[in-house]
Amino acid sequence: MLNLKTISAALVAGAAFASAQCTIPTEPLSDDIPSHFRIQVQNASRPEVHNKYMNLFEAGGGDQHLFIGPVGEPTYDFTLVDGVVFNVRKNIRLVIGGEWSEIDHTTKLFSTSRGDPDAIFQPTYACNPDTGLLQVELRFIQWEGEPLGGHICVRHSFDGSHEFRYNPPGNTLIDVNRECIKVTLVVLPTVGGPSTTLSTVTVSSTSSSSSVAPPTTSTSTTTSTAPTSTSTSGVLPYTDMTHLGWRYIGCAPEERWTTDGAFRTLSGALLGSDTMTNEACMAFCGANGWAYAGTEWRRECWCGNSYAPTRQPLTTLASLNKCDYRCSGNSAQFCGGDAWLSLYAKCPASGPCENAVFT
Ligand SMILES: *[C@@H]1O[C@H](CO)[C@@H](O)[C@H](O)[C@H]1NC(C)=O
Repeated sequence: MLNLKTISAALVAGAAFASAQCTIPTEPLSDDIPSHFRIQVQNASRPEVHNKYMNLFEAGGGDQHLFIGPVGEPTYDFTLVDGVVFNVRKNIRLVIGGEWSEIDHTTKLFSTSRGDPDAIFQPTYACNPDTGLLQVELRFIQWEGEPLGGHICVRHSFDGSHEFRYNPPGNTLIDVNRECIKVTLVVLPTVGGPSTTLSTVTVSSTSSSSSVAPPTTSTSTTTSTAPTSTSTSGVLPYTDMTHLGWRYIGCAPEERWTTDGAFRTLSGALLGSDTMTNEACMAFCGANGWAYAGTEWRRECWCGNSYAPTRQPLTTLASLNKCDYRCSGNSAQFCGGDAWLSLYAKCPASGPCENAVFT
């Protein structure tokens, strides 16, 4: 176990010896760091990302996406357990999966409590490129279950931020419009940083990393295939809810299918259930006064009062197939698709309540 004292002592020792180049201690570092730290990003030749920090950004469904500023919440309480980065306060750990990019073959690095494969790191001593002082880096070892190697990179995203991604070993593809910049992740012990609610590490990585991923939305995988729509000869694949005062306005994309940023199409409230139906969703959103309700991935219900123009529901007949997953609580109903939302709007108290016309 590498504790905070060890790191701090090593850093101080390194500082004392350091001039331009530090002295690397010979003893290997453990892959556990139970004391809290921040993660700093370094690439001295890329000032737009150099020395910035990994922030957490609420992404819906309990996931936290990873950004460097200005997006996200600064985070001081990461720990490392068996090479996996945890945040106990938010009950999440760093994983890789989803949003595979066809252009540069990178995949999203994000954080979740679900069973996605871990990002595995090994703490390693190195010298800070600016100061020459000793630092502890998180060397990327592998995406769990994938070949060893590859590296973590950051790619320009919305609002001037960068998102974290995984670049596979041997990959030379570059997206010229948004290059994924290779970065070093550095452990900064957070002595005297903002206080946190938990001071001990209680997470066992073996149990969480071996669990099976439940069906989820945008971030779990990009390779899943939608269930084939059963023939609905003449019957539209959406569930009519006008009798309950909600009209179907179409099948709307989540972030995976857009380039406008990492946010949910409806971000007000979320209910997940293995007995999800459109009635249950509309009752949930309606009871809380939301103007829009949407079902997704069989078992999720999202509520909100607006959606971005870039997330307009589609109204072509063909688009209905994207929202043809059967509801977990009623196989006669449709509850969205893989990062597609069956989107409903609350009808005015008086006046017509009509579904969109699909052409
Ligand atoms: C900085 O980023 C560039 C572009 O990804 C990469 O070629 C270079 O190796 C990186 N430098 C370091 C020190 O990671």
